[in-house]
Amino acid sequence: MKLYDPARKPPKFTEVPNHIAIVMDGNGRWANQRGLKRTEGHRAGELALLEVVAGAIEVGVKQLTAFAFSTENWKRSPEEVKFLMNYNIETLRARRDLLMEWGVKIRWTGQEKKLWPSVLSELRETEKLTAKNKGLTLNMAVNYGGRQEILDAAQALVDKATAGELVGKVTEAKFAKELYLPNMPDVDLFLRSSGEMRLSNFLLWESSYAEMVFLDKLWPDFTRETLWEAISIMQGRDRRFGSAEDRPIN
Ligand code: IPE
Ligand code: IPE
Ligand code: MG
Repeated sequence: MKLYDPARKPPKFTEVPNHIAIVMDGNGRWANQRGLKRTEGHRAGELALLEVVAGAIEVGVKQLTAFAFSTENWKRSPEEVKFLMNYNIETLRARRDLLMEWGVKIRWTGQEKKLWPSVLSELRETEKLTAKNKGLTLNMAVNYGGRQEILDAAQALVDKATAGELVGKVTEAKFAKELYLPNMPDVDLFLRSSGEMRLSNFLLWESSYAEMVFLDKLWPDFTRETLWEAISIMQGRDRRFGSAEDRPIN
């Protein structure tokens, strides 16, 4: 896979989102539509992620957070869960060199509880290996749940208060420091594939003012052009963050 492809030029954007969150959804449907098992859809989703990472680097996105496995996904069949856990390890191993070459820094976000130790150690190893990279930061959300992240942060503050280490009131800044990745910036663009229009418990705190873009395309069909299309949709939005401007039409 090529990082820069002269035949595939991105549009000129006036402003590029700093942080994009992606719910990579629709793998199962993609596979079933082709008479294949759901797991084949997950396999096909790997290339889509690399494409989107390449597309993000090309236009200067700084952070991309990809939802790979939610705390709710344990409800799936044992076969699918097992496939997804192993596939996360395999993908990290197989793509590490390429991502190093692209200067990508990989971080893991999620909950340790229940996560397979083999997956956790692979993630930690990848974090170490890519820690010094200066390019795009790719946060892999594996065993991640937004409410759980908020609860864990609240618990951490309670523990600090009990230990007498919390000085003054709880503020947004103090709270955010207790999140899984305290340096993660707010999400600018929240993108979901497959036509579903819901958050599914992804980055609840971080996405409070994100622009939502829902595309019908299934995740394995995503390319760098699809990412650019989503950024183009966002370009047309007026982000006011609660402020207002008088603009009478003459
Ligand atoms: C998203 O695709 C991938 C994961 C949850 C790991 P799905 O597996 O949810 O595919 P659909 O939504 O059932 O088609
Ligand atoms: C969200 O997709 C989780 C991931 C993409 C990893 P789901 O397919 O699990 O979410 P629901 O069931 O549509 O809410
Ligand atoms: Mg789904």
